Amino acid sequence: MPVHLTAESIPPLTKIAARGSEKRVLMVSPTHYDVLYEINPHMQGNIGTVDKVEASAQWNALRETYQSLGFSVSVIEGVEALPDMVFAANQTVPFLDADGQPSVILSKMASAYRQAEVEYFAEWYVAAGYKVIRHVNPPIEFEGMGDAIWHPTKNLLYIGYGFRTQRGALERAAACIGCEVVGLQLVDPHFYHLDTALSVINQTTALYVQEAFCTDGVKILQQQFEHLIAVPLSEAKQGFVTNGHSPDGKHFIVHQGNMETTQQLQALGIQVIEVDTSQFLKSGGSVFCMKMMLPV
Ligand code: ARG
Repeated sequence: MPVHLTAESIPPLTKIAARGSEKRVLMVSPTHYDVLYEINPHMQGNIGTVDKVEASAQWNALRETYQSLGFSVSVIEGVEALPDMVFAANQTVPFLDADGQPSVILSKMASAYRQAEVEYFAEWYVAAGYKVIRHVNPPIEFEGMGDAIWHPTKNLLYIGYGFRTQRGALERAAACIGCEVVGLQLVDPHFYHLDTALSVINQTTALYVQEAFCTDGVKILQQQFEHLIAVPLSEAKQGFVTNGHSPDGKHFIVHQGNMETTQQLQALGIQVIEVDTSQFLKSGGSVFCMKMMLPV
C-alpha cells in the first residue's frame, strides 16, 4: 500500500473501508499513574505533583463518559513503576486484517522509561484472541495510536513522525495493515504525538494546530477536510483541545474550558462533552491519549 508525503499524491476520496465504527474502548487503571521523569515539555516541573485521588476521579469520569455514550470499556490493571502506562493510546495499533481477523501491531516506545508497558498490552491482546505482530529487527520507533489517526470511512491512516515515531514506521504500518498511509511530520516538541496536534472528528471535520505541522502537512489536511479548524495555540498547548476525542463523529469529549474551539464545533452541530483531565495534562496527555478504540 502506498505511503504519501505530499498533497499531490493523496488518494482520491472514493476508497471506502469502514473505520471508526468501534464500540469498545480499552483503558489502563490509573493506580500507578504519576509524573516521575520528563520526556516531553509538558512534564517539566511536574515531577511529584500528581494528586492521585483527583487523577483517579478524573479517570473514572472519563470511563463513565464513554459508557454513557454506549461504549463498553475494558480495563488493564496499571503496573507499578510504569507511571505512563495509563496513556493507553501509545502501546499498540489494533485493526482488522483483510480476512476480518483482529490483529495488533505492538509499539516500540521511543523512551526507555515506557518500553516495558508494551508486553502487558501484548498479554491482554493474546487473551482477547488478537493476532499479535511484534516489531521488526532492527525495531523502528512507533508509538501506536498516539501517532496514528484513522480517516473515518476511508482505509487511510495519518501517521505523525519526527519526535517519537520514526519515518520508517509509515511503510511498516501500510504493509502490516494493508491501508493507505499519509505521513505528517511534526515540528514543535509541545506537539510530540500526532494526537496532540490533530483531532479528526468525522469525515468532514477536524481540529489542528497549524504551528505543529510543516507547510506540506497543512496542505494535505486542507485537502482532506472540508471543515479544518485551526485552534488557538493556547487552547492546544494549555487546554489540550486537539487531544479531545470523538468516538462517534457526533460527540467530542474534551478537556474543559476551551471556549473558542468549543463554540466553533457547536456551530457545526458537534455536541461537546467537557471533562477535567488536569492531573493528566501534567504528563502531557488528555482524553485521546487515555484510551484505545478496539475494532472488536
Ligand atoms: N507522559 C507521556 C509521554 O510523554 C504522555 C503520553 C501521552 N499520550 C499521547 N497519546 N499523546 O509519553
